Amino acid sequence: GEAITVGELAKQMGVKAAEVVKKLLLLGLPVTVNQAIDFDTAALVAAEFEYEVEKTGFEEEDILRTEEDRPEDLKPRPPVVTVMGHVDHGKTSLLDAIRHTNFTAEEAGGITQHIGAYHVKLDNGDVVFLDTPGHEAFTAMRARGARVTDIVVLVVAADDGVMQQTVEAINHARAANVPIIVAINKIDKPEANPDRVKRELAEHGLIPEEWGGDTIMVEVSAKKKIGIDDLLEMILLQAELMELKANPNKPARGRVIEAKLEKGRGPVATVLIQEGTLRVGDAYVCGVHYGRVRSLFNDRGQRISEAGPSMPVEVIGLSGVPMAGDDFAVVADEKQARMVAEHRLRKQREKELSRTTKITLEKLYEQI
Ligand code: GTP
Ligand code: MG
Repeated sequence: GEAITVGELAKQMGVKAAEVVKKLLLLGLPVTVNQAIDFDTAALVAAEFEYEVEKTGFEEEDILRTEEDRPEDLKPRPPVVTVMGHVDHGKTSLLDAIRHTNFTAEEAGGITQHIGAYHVKLDNGDVVFLDTPGHEAFTAMRARGARVTDIVVLVVAADDGVMQQTVEAINHARAANVPIIVAINKIDKPEANPDRVKRELAEHGLIPEEWGGDTIMVEVSAKKKIGIDDLLEMILLQAELMELKANPNKPARGRVIEAKLEKGRGPVATVLIQEGTLRVGDAYVCGVHYGRVRSLFNDRGQRISEAGPSMPVEVIGLSGVPMAGDDFAVVADEKQARMVAEHRLRKQREKELSRTTKITLEKLYEQI
């Protein structure tokens, strides 16, 4: 339930913290100023000072709750694809190849990697690629119940085969229940052996379609730009099967992909919009932070006014730097945003405080 530190309670009653500590001691509770006490204890000691403690706790869900979408409001959205694989197997090269075969020369010149996410427009549909989530970020997101990826493209170098991080990526994708498309890369190399890669993948339960399994495997060369279109086609095919949809006509919700503090810009977060549409001026809560969207930038660093489902955007106008995996939700106004953010911060502090107390007690026992 709700808790408050002794110091905070004293402050709110306008009495010295030492007085409250003393009262609690007399009540048989030796505590320190920074220690959190529960509601009942707070009520008890407050009564000693002729104060009444009121429960002001609220459920976040009351503010953040969104209605269940009606089927007719759900619109198709682009798949979000994360490229994973062992070190040096060619993830970045593959993304480069994808970008350059699908942007005009003029556009390509303007593409600097602003936000570690790319929105690729193809003839048969759009795909959003995430470059950011390394295994750690992926794990962190999964631990927090966040699922931002629809499809994993597993890159395996044909000259190197299945390695430790290949197996880790397979496990991550499986645990998150995300379909895997294998890109067997570097087939231009003389020592490339795609069949060996397939055998090794089969040992880990990924059986290629040609062997009667159901894993799509595409042989590519990021360097020589071989098989890139095939790979994109397979991604779109897989996405089509998944019938990915979201309601664009409601307050936006999304996940932080990465965040940092930038000189002259303040806290900057890359957010993947998962439902609704985010607009400049929207009030939002993001992890324990909140704010109002000051400006939005797309994957090419261009200023935009709004972003819909599956779109990665850079958001400026945050009260602090959030963490990868934090949720992002638009609320009615800044006051509500602040209320939720502060509530979360309070809860987080309580958790930290109780942890500190435990550690101290353990240390104490050690000494005894
Ligand atoms: P990390 O981000 O460090 O894990 O590596 P990565 O998986 O992003 O690999 P990257 O794209 O940086 O490529 C690693 C090396 O492999 C580079 O020297 C690339 O030039 C080379 N490489 C990538 N793809 C191919 C390919 O299709 N053929 C050949 N011959 N070399 C490739
Ligand atoms: Mg790389």
